[in-house]
Amino acid sequence: MKVLIVGSGGREHAIAWSVAKSPKVDKIYCAPGNAGIAEYAECVSIKAMEFEKLADFAVDKAIDLTIIGMDDPLVGGIVDVFEAKGLKVFGPRKNAAILEGSKAFSKDLMKKYNIPTAAYENFDDPAKAIEYIKAQGKFPVVLKADGLALGKGVLICKTLEEAEAGVKEIMEDKKFGSAGNTMVVEEFMTGREVSVLSFVDGKTIKTMTSAQDHKRAKDGDQGLNTGGMGTFSPSPFYTKEIDEFCQKAIYQPTVDAMAAEGRPFVGIIFFGLMLTEDGPKVLEYNARFGDPEAQVVLPRMKNDIIEVVEACVNGTLDRVDLQFEDNAAVCVILASEGYPVAYQKGVPMTGFENFKDKDGYYCFHAGTRRDGEQIVTNGGRVLGITALGKDLKEARKNAYEATEWISFANKYMRHDIGKAIDEA
Ligand code: AMP
Ligand code: GLY
Repeated sequence: MKVLIVGSGGREHAIAWSVAKSPKVDKIYCAPGNAGIAEYAECVSIKAMEFEKLADFAVDKAIDLTIIGMDDPLVGGIVDVFEAKGLKVFGPRKNAAILEGSKAFSKDLMKKYNIPTAAYENFDDPAKAIEYIKAQGKFPVVLKADGLALGKGVLICKTLEEAEAGVKEIMEDKKFGSAGNTMVVEEFMTGREVSVLSFVDGKTIKTMTSAQDHKRAKDGDQGLNTGGMGTFSPSPFYTKEIDEFCQKAIYQPTVDAMAAEGRPFVGIIFFGLMLTEDGPKVLEYNARFGDPEAQVVLPRMKNDIIEVVEACVNGTLDRVDLQFEDNAAVCVILASEGYPVAYQKGVPMTGFENFKDKDGYYCFHAGTRRDGEQIVTNGGRVLGITALGKDLKEARKNAYEATEWISFANKYMRHDIGKAIDEA
């Protein structure tokens, strides 16, 4: 088989690594890819939003299966463009990717189908939003821009003044662009966050092992929100009972709701959950693998990813026995000092050879590129260093050890990824 992967981050590197293990695959392309992905795939310089060019490339190279890693092209309808050319592609169509693309849509869906989530209202008038926030009088309150905003369109406001400023930022100043034309005002929830990723074929859902991300830039969950500074899997807080509840009350109902709405979902549903005192509730849906969740979940998956993905596309996921190793993984992001605000790019890196032939250690590239013989930094999140272990403690020790194998001048990381494990 020839496989095309669309995207260029650590998630796509983990997908490419996983695809490369499949005996069914003999050629991988990645658009646009990065310096690490280039180890398994021929990188093609077409951007993820150039749907027609990508589809023409797939036709030209007789690609058997395309896997879309990123949210923007999915929400923009890349799958529809591929399907119109008779190409096999893994990911939700535009009318289903709206599950991630519009928070107002996903909140209304959950309300209509009684899927547990925080209480909320949607607004397209800033004055009405402020009136509602005042009437509720409960702080903190959560404001969410409706559309995609690089994971940054969520504001947690502690006072009425902050909320008024937040409404202005999102709806009037359009800090997140047209994503803020509509806004969700949501009740603030407390508890542990868990990410559960799943394969979906339109009717059947098979969940993967759980994971937890660390979104803030600095140790102790301080600093700005980022794309994710590190992950661990499984989450010790995601118990069997919680899983049973979620399967019945959240996962299957979401898939059934999408089908009932005439928007059958094929692809990955990523459930962002909050384990509250009143039980698990949905924080958000994503329509793709998480980044860096993929970097801890895929190395633990026993199945051939191609078999699972094909079963999703063919509607035969019910016949797949999805299995994960009884071990653990931790991923620590090596970032550029200053991320997510301002940082230097083009900094030379060394030490990649330390990962050669080391079982259970992975160096997933995110923002990197080749500059002649060297690999240099090319983004805020640069590498995801993943290690396996028999349990979370061992995986964490191994991952932090391996972070020392790579050197670059402005290397930055959090030192408390997976520290919560100690409390479990
Ligand atoms: P989202 O993009 O919806 O996942 O929001 C980003 C982050 O904001 C989440 O990972 C949570 O940490 C936080 N968050 C979102 N919604 C809520 C909520 N209703 N209550 C508390 N925290 C929230
Ligand atoms: N790690 C969070 C995300 O991929 O959205």
